[in-house]
Amino acid sequence: MSRGLGDVYKRQVQEDIDHELISKEEISDIINRAAAQASEDYRGKNPLLVCVLKGAVNTLAAFSQAMSIPVQMDFMSLSSYGSGTESSGKITVRQDLSTDVRGRHVLIVEDIIDSGITLAWLVDELKRRRAASVEIFALLEKPARRKVNVDVKYKGREIPDEFVVGFGLDYDEYYRNLDSIAVLKPSVYEGGQA
Ligand code: PRP
Repeated sequence: MSRGLGDVYKRQVQEDIDHELISKEEISDIINRAAAQASEDYRGKNPLLVCVLKGAVNTLAAFSQAMSIPVQMDFMSLSSYGSGTESSGKITVRQDLSTDVRGRHVLIVEDIIDSGITLAWLVDELKRRRAASVEIFALLEKPARRKVNVDVKYKGREIPDEFVVGFGLDYDEYYRNLDSIAVLKPSVYEGGQA
């Protein structure tokens, strides 16, 4: 019965998608490459992977599984209030880490860097909490939208300024469970609440 429901959902989603931008195989390649490099760099350092909820959950899961060294992970929920889709630059912590990062080597795992405001704030905050080091893996970057500079050590893929969903990325909280990254049809969000 649940398989039938899944098929209906998939058909509905396919109608909302304009085209696939990054296949699940390519996502896997990007993540595996970054995780292999990070595993070398952090060997013996017991890194703490910090996942920025909610969009980075899928990336964190795949990235951590692809790492070949012991890691710990923790989660943080941030929101940047603003009008419409533009970030205001004011970050609020909705849910904080449960780990004391003092003296820890922190690797932030993000799904996408847009303006850069969220990550610029988080890097500063983790340094303020006296992390021994703070680096970033970002699966996607939209260079056209960048407002503040963020130093990304483990780079994923640059994408054009299009409305993408899937692999954690949402529109109105849907599509996060797609296993690839796709461009949404404008008709889905035009006149909507994005
Ligand atoms: C997205 C994304 C980043 C942030 C990037 O999160 O996951 O955290 O926006 O934007 P920025 O570079 O302009 O700061 P979002 O606020 O959509 O929340 P979500 O992860 O729960 O979907």
